[in-house]
Amino acid sequence: MKLDPQQLARFDEEGYVFIPSVFSPDEVAVLRSAADEVYAMDREEVWRESSGVARTAFAAHRYHEAFRRLGRHPRLIGPVMQILDGPVYMHQYKVNAKAAFDGEVWQWHQDYGTWRRDDEMPAPRAMNIAVFVDDVTAANGPLLLIPGSHRHGVVEAGHDLETTSYPLWTLSREKVAELAERGGCVAPTGPGGSLLLFSSLMVHASPPNISPFGRTIVYLSLCHVENHIRRFRRAEWIAHRDFAPIEPLADDCFDELVAARAEARASAAA
Ligand code: SIN
Ligand code: MN
Repeated sequence: MKLDPQQLARFDEEGYVFIPSVFSPDEVAVLRSAADEVYAMDREEVWRESSGVARTAFAAHRYHEAFRRLGRHPRLIGPVMQILDGPVYMHQYKVNAKAAFDGEVWQWHQDYGTWRRDDEMPAPRAMNIAVFVDDVTAANGPLLLIPGSHRHGVVEAGHDLETTSYPLWTLSREKVAELAERGGCVAPTGPGGSLLLFSSLMVHASPPNISPFGRTIVYLSLCHVENHIRRFRRAEWIAHRDFAPIEPLADDCFDELVAARAEARASAAA
């Protein structure tokens, strides 16, 4: 998959692009079951909210086949290679649950702020591509973005080790208000299977999910291979150390999983 010139211009200008319904309902159903399977695993990569429900499954492409294939999917890797202009490796992989009723806040931050300060990634030649697994609505804790905030470089931040289970370099309210005064604040919403591409310098956050609807989003954080991290302080399943270029799979790489799911459902119903 390739982005068209308007999408590329929008990414440059606003720092993000939203593309609805890139994955079919059958492909999304595979990812939905896969998310529940990883949330149920008792592994160090699966972090939990204070209530005990899953918050984030890190590095799920290493221990679940559907997420392994998603991590090499041409509909994700293609557009990112186009924007970053060359081969990319996986810096981080997260399946974020934002569980019904219990999904907690992600404070205002820039991902590259953390990648530079914690991992010594040399430049913001890295970005996120997010896949909506559930429908994302105004009600279930959508991601909030400040358009244009990626043009302000790395913004001053403090290390928040207390608000949630996941440490983040977060921005002050004054800084967020100043940036939003210029760029506004948007919450891209859409059906499961939609994509959201955003700059690693984008200032973003998400509110708690008090709705009865879960909001799983998978985030691939991809980095140009020459821009790999230089410091290995965080766990390798949070900040990966395999800098080999990702070879995308074929576009139909989910077909087998879709067929296997249909077969399993048919035999369960029989
Ligand atoms: C993130 O900022 O990395 C995750 C936010 C979310 O899933 O709501
Ligand atoms: Mn983030």
